[in-house]
Amino acid sequence: MDVKYQSVKGMNDVVPGEVEAWQILEYKTRRFLEGYGFREIRTPLLESTELFSRSIGEASDIVHKEMYTFEDRGGRSLTLRPEMTAAVARAVLEHHLLRSGEPTHLYYWGSMYRAERPQAGRQREFHQMGTEVLNTDSPLDDARLIVLVRDYLAWVGLSRFTVRLNNLGTAEDREIYARKLAEFFNAHQAQLCPDCQYRLSKNVLRIFDCKVAECQPIITKAPDMELSKEAKKDFEKIQLFLREAGVPVRLEPKLVRGLDYYTGCVFEVTAEGLGAQDALLAGGRYDGLFQSLGGPRVGAVGFALGVERLLAVLGAHQVSLRDEALKQTVYVAGLVSAPSSDDFYRQLRNALVSARKRGVISLVERSLSNHLKHANKIQAGYAVIVGEEEFHKGEVTLKHMVSGIQTRVKLTELASAFI
Ligand code: HAM
Repeated sequence: MDVKYQSVKGMNDVVPGEVEAWQILEYKTRRFLEGYGFREIRTPLLESTELFSRSIGEASDIVHKEMYTFEDRGGRSLTLRPEMTAAVARAVLEHHLLRSGEPTHLYYWGSMYRAERPQAGRQREFHQMGTEVLNTDSPLDDARLIVLVRDYLAWVGLSRFTVRLNNLGTAEDREIYARKLAEFFNAHQAQLCPDCQYRLSKNVLRIFDCKVAECQPIITKAPDMELSKEAKKDFEKIQLFLREAGVPVRLEPKLVRGLDYYTGCVFEVTAEGLGAQDALLAGGRYDGLFQSLGGPRVGAVGFALGVERLLAVLGAHQVSLRDEALKQTVYVAGLVSAPSSDDFYRQLRNALVSARKRGVISLVERSLSNHLKHANKIQAGYAVIVGEEEFHKGEVTLKHMVSGIQTRVKLTELASAFI
């Protein structure tokens, strides 16, 4: 049957059968980050357009080409958030969250919007999990965050990935570099694509974000950045810390990241199984962002991870979060369905809630063996059988589907009977 309405291009539904992996990942992520001392921050999907153009930069692809921007009824220009760092900085300033002067660890999980050309691993609505560490000036905190990334990925089941690292130096280093780059690209201007010509006039560093094949030979020949002594020292500290923590890194002198607010160390984690869109997560230091939004200088470092991409990589690496969800699924074979059994099933449902299980309760009339076949088919971890005898005794039969072990338990004790 042809359906009349479909989801907007590049924006996907997550339906039962797929959503379990999302739920497990989100649950595990929250446990990890909360354990590490991060607190969640939630901000609206819409922000004023200027917040993003100021912080991410006019010449960035995101601001220049990809934002969902519209005028609201009051004539204000609003934008669906393409990322969270600017929104977090805005909220932190608005609510004076840095008043204590203490290092502040924030995290978020939510949907972002970028009007990119959809392809595998690239959506127009996608989800990010991200962290922002605020009130930090030590370069070691950059390294600590990368170690956290390694431990987080291991916690969710991913051990093979590559960390790419670069340092954007001090403000002066970047100024000198921008002049050098402008000189170089001006000499090759005629060969650059129209977007790069625009970047050259607005912010020459953004030329490194170009994906056009014809520009690549020129970009490869562009000079690398020279770091001042001070920046070099910091960068070496970061690399040493990572070596000692056992995190191998690949230095990428041309990794400049597609957003203007970065000021020092920047990094990207890539993994196999993503095809062309291989960046799983990315981040770096952004010590100037708060000031550019009218606040004080705040030392800050963070990263954001693409949730859809992580799920794809975990799938490609045979880590099945869905299996974990299914283990927690309890199929209830309700062989008794008289109205007098309502209260029995209500108590049973509450027992599943207490035990944090996922219930699939079937009162469909069919034989026990057909019920169990169905439980197998949906790969439930357990079956709970409610036959006449069980019902009259206030009991259920609990079957562990993998081992086949079956026990009789009192309904009042069901919540603690799962192995
Ligand atoms: P970003 O590199 O623009 O950085 O995005 C981070 C991650 O979001 C990417 O590595 C990718 O996994 C995912 N992502 C980006 N665009 C898409 C898309 N169209 N479809 C699917 N996934 C996508 C930021 O957003 C910065 N705010 C990161 C940061 C936080 N820097 C400091 N703190």
